[in-house]
Amino acid sequence: MKRPETIKWQKEYEIGIKEVDEQHQRLFALVNKLIEARKELVTQEELEYIIRELIDYTQYHFSTEEMLFKDLLPISKEHRKEHIKFTISIMKYNILFLEGKEHIDSNILFFLVNWLKNHVLKMDMQTFRQLKNIQKEVHHGG
Ligand SMILES: [Fe+2]
Repeated sequence: MKRPETIKWQKEYEIGIKEVDEQHQRLFALVNKLIEARKELVTQEELEYIIRELIDYTQYHFSTEEMLFKDLLPISKEHRKEHIKFTISIMKYNILFLEGKEHIDSNILFFLVNWLKNHVLKMDMQTFRQLKNIQKEVHHGG
């Protein structure tokens, strides 16, 4: 199986909301940290810490996004569902990892990289575009 490569931040990932863009960059950096850590053969404890950092930051980031788009129904519900599904996947993986039944394999890294890229490019892009359109309308009284 091919080895996952670190993700490079690109202009196309920009949502245009500074807070969200900065958090996405930090998320990319945390996923990259995990990819690099695996190559460098760090200890189990260090890996546990990186995974924990990634999960904590993900939750913080999701709540930031959800507060921003909370009034944007029905897309906000769909979006939250995606966040929850991702959270369940990563939590399940974390249990296996802590039980020693799982190591950092390519599957989980590919999952993280692909989910993140996809989610930012599709769901985040779409949601925040709608949010900006609505704010424009309100602002211009239309
Ligand atoms: Fe999102």
